[in-house]
Amino acid sequence: MTNLTLVINFIVLCFVWCIFAQQCEISPHVQRFDCYPEKESSKEKCLERNCCWRLPIEQTNYTDKRLTGIPFCYYPTDFPTYEIISNETTDFGQRIRIQKSQTTYMPHDILNLTVDLIYETQERFRIRIYDSVNKRYEVPLQVPVVEKRANNTDYEIRFGKKPFAILVTRKSTGVTLFDSSVAPLIFADQFIKFSTRLSTPLLYGLGEHQQPLLINVTNEWKRLTFYSRDFPPMENINLYGVHPFHINLERTPDNQTHVHGQFFLNSNAMDIDLQPLPAITYTTIGGIIDLYIFTGPTVENVIEQYWDVIGKPTMPPFWSLGFHLCRWGYNNIENMISTLERMQSANFPIDVQWTDIDAMSSYLDFTYDSEHFHGLPGYVRALQADGIHYVNIIDPGISSTQSAGSYIPYDEGLKRGVFMTKFNSTELIFGKVWPGITAFPDFTNPETIEWWTDIASAFHEVIPFDGMWIDMNEPSSFVDGSQDGCTDNSLDNPPFTPHVHGDALSAKTLCPSAQQLLSSHYNLHSMYGYFEAQATNIALRTIRKKRPFVLSRSTFAGSGRYTAHWTGDNQATFIDMYFSIPAILNFNMFGITHVGADICGFLLDTTEELCVRWMQLGAFYPFMRNHNSLGQKDQDPASFSWEVQQIMKQALLMRYSLIPFWYTLHYEASSKSRTIVQPLFSEYLNDKNTYNIDQQFLIGRALLISPNLLPESNSVHAYIPQDVWYEFPLGVKLSNVGLFTDLDAPISKINVHLRGGFIIPMQIPGDNLVLGRGNPFTLVVAPSQFGNASGNLFWDDGDSIDSIETQTYNYLEFSLTNSNKLTINILVSNYKESAMRLDLIKILGVNTSVNNVIINGKSYSNYLYNIPDQILLIYGLDLDMLSQSSQTIQWTTSNK
Ligand code: NOJ
Repeated sequence: MTNLTLVINFIVLCFVWCIFAQQCEISPHVQRFDCYPEKESSKEKCLERNCCWRLPIEQTNYTDKRLTGIPFCYYPTDFPTYEIISNETTDFGQRIRIQKSQTTYMPHDILNLTVDLIYETQERFRIRIYDSVNKRYEVPLQVPVVEKRANNTDYEIRFGKKPFAILVTRKSTGVTLFDSSVAPLIFADQFIKFSTRLSTPLLYGLGEHQQPLLINVTNEWKRLTFYSRDFPPMENINLYGVHPFHINLERTPDNQTHVHGQFFLNSNAMDIDLQPLPAITYTTIGGIIDLYIFTGPTVENVIEQYWDVIGKPTMPPFWSLGFHLCRWGYNNIENMISTLERMQSANFPIDVQWTDIDAMSSYLDFTYDSEHFHGLPGYVRALQADGIHYVNIIDPGISSTQSAGSYIPYDEGLKRGVFMTKFNSTELIFGKVWPGITAFPDFTNPETIEWWTDIASAFHEVIPFDGMWIDMNEPSSFVDGSQDGCTDNSLDNPPFTPHVHGDALSAKTLCPSAQQLLSSHYNLHSMYGYFEAQATNIALRTIRKKRPFVLSRSTFAGSGRYTAHWTGDNQATFIDMYFSIPAILNFNMFGITHVGADICGFLLDTTEELCVRWMQLGAFYPFMRNHNSLGQKDQDPASFSWEVQQIMKQALLMRYSLIPFWYTLHYEASSKSRTIVQPLFSEYLNDKNTYNIDQQFLIGRALLISPNLLPESNSVHAYIPQDVWYEFPLGVKLSNVGLFTDLDAPISKINVHLRGGFIIPMQIPGDNLVLGRGNPFTLVVAPSQFGNASGNLFWDDGDSIDSIETQTYNYLEFSLTNSNKLTINILVSNYKESAMRLDLIKILGVNTSVNNVIINGKSYSNYLYNIPDQILLIYGLDLDMLSQSSQTIQWTTSNK
């Protein structure tokens, strides 16, 4: 080499380096997008990917939360990505072909992609990006298929041609809802990564994770991993379910708040990274990009738009709204009976008795231990005669080691080909669960649903269970992968593994390469619980011919159509009690409205104080079950001191008296897409104080619950939004609102407030919901600042499968006008089998003395007016609410 060539080479190198260095000049750090998300990144590995490697700040303290998470290895601004090669207008919107001219760092880069921009409705936009040549796995969820483009959309779409990027804005405000130009799109066979700008760093959702309600990435980088996993809820761990849906706040130019939602319809293992730009990055290892944007603009609108895609929650049977008692470790029927008896003799209402795996024979599904639980079938029938329901546990693992002919579920399953198999083989894949070695049903196979129905039905002949508790369905296994390990193929060893707990996709579950009818387990893993819940729901309908009750631990987007959910193996700690609130709020947004946490805590021994506080809070969970782990001390309410029992009873009675309200909310969830419990920000969207509140919540729109979540404390620091509020159940109006305040919260009290503008239907509680169904109703009327209020009541037989479809129900509307007139209107009255008698009306905030009450035009004398509390009580009514299409209750006051 001559000197001249050397010089020229040096100059060229310098030039290239300078340009590269320039492409790396990305400042501030929040604009960096991670090019090496794997655990062991290094400068060499980073540069091999043609990415930039820089430490965020020299000699910095990386334990600082604002700095942890900043990628050292990030994309240069000119990282190769796709460009548009054609763009055609279609009936649904637009079809764009994009191409990348060179492969990047992951194997099997897909260079030709198709992008469908589907203008589904005015408020819903869908982006689908997929391989132009080869068909890829897509999530088998039945979502609406839209062929005609919606007009007058709330959103506007633009794109970048080179590099390709999509930009979605809200037409009315110009606010950016989606902007993929922030980072390059990577689309390889087992590695799909794209990023988009968030409107603000404030978002909600992205479950199932143990986390506060508000995900605030103003100053933080955050990674959430999605892959169903059996693990006691802890922060930063992928848990039982997968819901890649979030709600993002937007500030409008005139300082109003709007929200939009985003749902990534993808069931592969994935990471979601959040950074303070603010931006969100999805890294999934399969499927396609199928993404929905919902423009809201309110939280209620977003939820409705989301549920139009994934399906509305199922209507639960009436009895399942009562109190459920369970534990792992009754160990024998005597213990279980004596627990229930002590509950009943202490006069606690109770609706459902459960058994866990200790009631099975050798942990075998669809059996019972006839020695330790002798007489269980007869006992269950006796309970049912008294209106108590019974639910038992079923795990998906079916024992494969019983002698031939002795265990029908396995023998039949084998014959009918329902079990999952090894990769490219007809050989079954075996894991290990409670009964030892087990095969796993493939619930994506229709034959499996029939087999499941048949074996459940045979067991139902033995013990007529009323609902099914499906546990361990992540699916969980005590061995990694299988009894024989996993393969060395790329499904079991993908080039990139999201940051799942245990580091491998096969950790405490089956090998990803296992085969299911619809696809590989690699693709379907996180939907195992979804398909099991669907099968179980179908089985229960077929067997009982009544509305099914299923409780599933693992869930996926859309599971609420089939099942209720509990939050898994929490601990008996105050902190876990707190985390149950964001969890139930999130699951409501995810469309699984019938949700609760193990009250008093599952793991660890509870304490009297914690259990009292948790029973008070749990009385306001949509699903109320006290459940406890093996070896922990008893925690059923009747196991505590007399004083504590009285407090717990008070909480339970409050729940039971509110059941008509709860039941109506469930009807509204399943037919009108309303959440049952909701965060304060969803009702007070322009009030910034509400954004971070997750120690309080609303039931429907009307009841504000402010539990005491701290040990040894007699007050609750709570926020009372600017509105009219009445103490519940007393009815006294609050004078200080729109502020944080310390509410009195001694151990005997849970703070509940009723919001002005609402009418709540209630009922005198019975010993259980079956026995109390015919009891008289009461109404609590809470006028708004304008003196009006409204409410509804849904009522039917409580467990017909199709009462909503066939309109075999009653639906009443209550409305108060500011002329002191309450009207009861019948909107639907097709359910005539039980009377609906109204006994008592409590009208709050009546600020002048009442001198006459007139019911349906006739003067009525059974009323009391309480001057200091401003409450009008109209009692002894015995009014048949179904007798006329409209009835009126009026009162006159001394100054009218
Ligand atoms: C794990 C479940 O999460 C828990 O609720 C149950 O008690 C145990 N499995 C035993 O079945």
